[in-house]
Amino acid sequence: MLNFEYLLPTRVIFGKGTHLDVGNIARRSGASRILFHYGGGSIRRNGVYDAVTDSMQRAGVSYIELGGVRPNPRLSLVYEGIRLCRQERIDFILAVGGGSVIDSAKAIGMGAAHTERDVWDFYSGAAPERTLPVGVVLTIPAAGSETSMSSVISREEDHLKRSCNDETIRPVFAIMNPELTYTLPAYQTACGAVDIMAHVMERYFTTTDHVETTDRLSEAVLLSMIANVPRALRQPDDYHSRAEIMWCGSLAHSNFLGVGRVQDWATHQMEHEISALYDIAHGAGLAILFPAWMRHVYRADVDRFAQFAARVWDVPESDDRETMAREGIDRLESFFSSIGMPTRLSHAGIDASRIDEMARNTFCNNGDRTGTFVPLTLEDKLAIFRAAV
Ligand code: NZQ
Ligand code: ZN
Repeated sequence: MLNFEYLLPTRVIFGKGTHLDVGNIARRSGASRILFHYGGGSIRRNGVYDAVTDSMQRAGVSYIELGGVRPNPRLSLVYEGIRLCRQERIDFILAVGGGSVIDSAKAIGMGAAHTERDVWDFYSGAAPERTLPVGVVLTIPAAGSETSMSSVISREEDHLKRSCNDETIRPVFAIMNPELTYTLPAYQTACGAVDIMAHVMERYFTTTDHVETTDRLSEAVLLSMIANVPRALRQPDDYHSRAEIMWCGSLAHSNFLGVGRVQDWATHQMEHEISALYDIAHGAGLAILFPAWMRHVYRADVDRFAQFAARVWDVPESDDRETMAREGIDRLESFFSSIGMPTRLSHAGIDASRIDEMARNTFCNNGDRTGTFVPLTLEDKLAIFRAAV
């Protein structure tokens, strides 16, 4: 296990009815003039918009609205938010939605707090020094942005999708009411589930030895997802399965499972190229790429993949570790198919014509390579994208 520091500054407020008190919770967090940030129509249709605005009015905090965040959130709306924050002397941002709304709020918070810099600098390697505080009412368990140190933004003009990763941008609170997720379409529930599982697996496939505790915790989260996602798909208003999935989403990406180990993140970097170019859901892109990445790299540590197969997918132990490893990957892929996810680019209507561009553009998070479990060269990335067609 490697040395580490762990602090989760986000106050998690979890359970039925919790969003009704958001106004007081924001006020106690220092908010007086709020930018209320949200996405398309879902929160208006399911009553969350009314509940949140009522709560803010009752708590006596004032707010300005900025809706319209689209999945794969865009830099142009971030600039609009920064301008509004300055003009209206906003001191707090409330994000009501999923990863896209939260990431957009984080970007606005950084941009508004740095008058001297362009916010895109923080998505090009510069470290933010401060941010306006961001609070969250989560409506979809998926990206884990409600407790994560990341924000991912797309710049429209050149289809660049890039992340900023810094401790300063973790939200100050995250209100998580599983009831708010009952209205999720099955497709969004499944995309979110894949993303949650991917956040665990990006950490699980590591080159660090002796990480038994976080291995076991990670396996528990994956097993809980495998049990609960089909239940939530069968019965969308099943509180218990929705609650398990929601808590898994935050555990998966708060880095509780990633401490003390080298993490990979190649699949995420490669997926960002797919969703940047084709605007598909991040989780769908991950369902396509994760099995392809695994088949490309598993020989680097067959035992780790055999362990994953045995403990997560119930593959019987055998001396033939390679067959075990491959069977685990097949079962993961079958699970993704069974919850309605595409597992090939062609299933999502994407052909091979822009593979070269995607492989070349993929961010190198490890020197001139991508990933750490196997540091991927351009040839590796091309091979993985081709295998995913
Ligand atoms: O826009 P509305 O109308 O609200 O609809 C949304 C959106 O279309 C809908 N939705 C959300 N809650 C709903 C609902 N529909 C019905 N009922 C509800 N309760 O779901 C759709 C998807 O929302 P989005 O926020 O885009 O989903 P997600 O949470 O998966 O976020 C995806 C974004 O997060 C980034 C992804 O790359 C992508 O841009 N990520 C952010 C990370 C982070 N900040 O730590 C890490 C992740 O790896 C990921 O990269
Ligand atoms: Zn993700």
